[in-house]
Amino acid sequence: MAQPHPITTPLWTVVGQGAIGLLATARLHQAGYPVQLHRRTSAPFDFMFQSADDAFSLSLHTPLKIPYSFVLLPVKAYAVVDAVQQLLPLLAENAQLVLSHNGMGTIEQVLPLLKPKQGLWFLSTSHGAFKANQTTVIHSGKGQSVLGALNQAAFAQQQSVEKAMQAALGPLVVEDDIKPSLWLKLAVNAVINPLTALHQCKNGELSRSHYTSAITLLIEEFVRVANAAGQDFSVEAIQNRVKQVIEQTAENYSSMQQDFVKGRRTELEYITGFLLRQAEQHQLQLPAHQAIYQLLLQKSPR
Ligand code: PAF
Repeated sequence: MAQPHPITTPLWTVVGQGAIGLLATARLHQAGYPVQLHRRTSAPFDFMFQSADDAFSLSLHTPLKIPYSFVLLPVKAYAVVDAVQQLLPLLAENAQLVLSHNGMGTIEQVLPLLKPKQGLWFLSTSHGAFKANQTTVIHSGKGQSVLGALNQAAFAQQQSVEKAMQAALGPLVVEDDIKPSLWLKLAVNAVINPLTALHQCKNGELSRSHYTSAITLLIEEFVRVANAAGQDFSVEAIQNRVKQVIEQTAENYSSMQQDFVKGRRTELEYITGFLLRQAEQHQLQLPAHQAIYQLLLQKSPR
């Protein structure tokens, strides 16, 4: 009698060792997935994971298994293309690749690099995590994620990818078209991140009346370019969303504020820079975004 095929849980490869990547690694492991970390070095890696409900340590010592079939790539927007180029020789013919970062502009760069059967996805998350030190990751804010397929090849492995991403960074909403969610996140990042980086403040400071007119200008300009790009947002909807995120993350320093203060490269080119490039394509002027972009470039450590 023929034996039934065993149901195997696919091996996921997480790229880098950023806070979101380690959070996803820990949660995949908790859910019973075999998981490996693709890092610049092949040295063994141990880390501690802490959340409100859990604390455990994870040892990732086994040699990397290639080719990679399922890959989560939660690296900064400016590092995505280089990372994908380095991964290409290691990817299976039908590999599934999930991008996850702030800002926009990488999807168009990555799609032409993939083979016909390689699927591309984007996951946008509001989970909060940070590294207390090189080997301790803290899950500081429970969030949720939105996932969307970006090419036809992604549908061949739809169930596997959705199930794993539910475990890694759920609760998960799967969108037929993820673009509106990415634009909405872009609105939040294009207002909160540059202002907090420029004024070196926590997100919550932006609710002071002092910032109201700057926020309104940035939002009005954002809506003009989003509408020209076919995204149907109102100023009021964006105002409500930005206000909500400022309140929910009042005690946080934004990622751009932190990168800026630590002298690291920021995602400005993929947030405000992306918006300015879109505006140019639609022959629009965005004086408020242009001004904040120039100021940050001038003050930027590199
Ligand atoms: O980039 C960030 O820090 C986050 O996306 C957000 C939502 C602005 C909260 O700090």
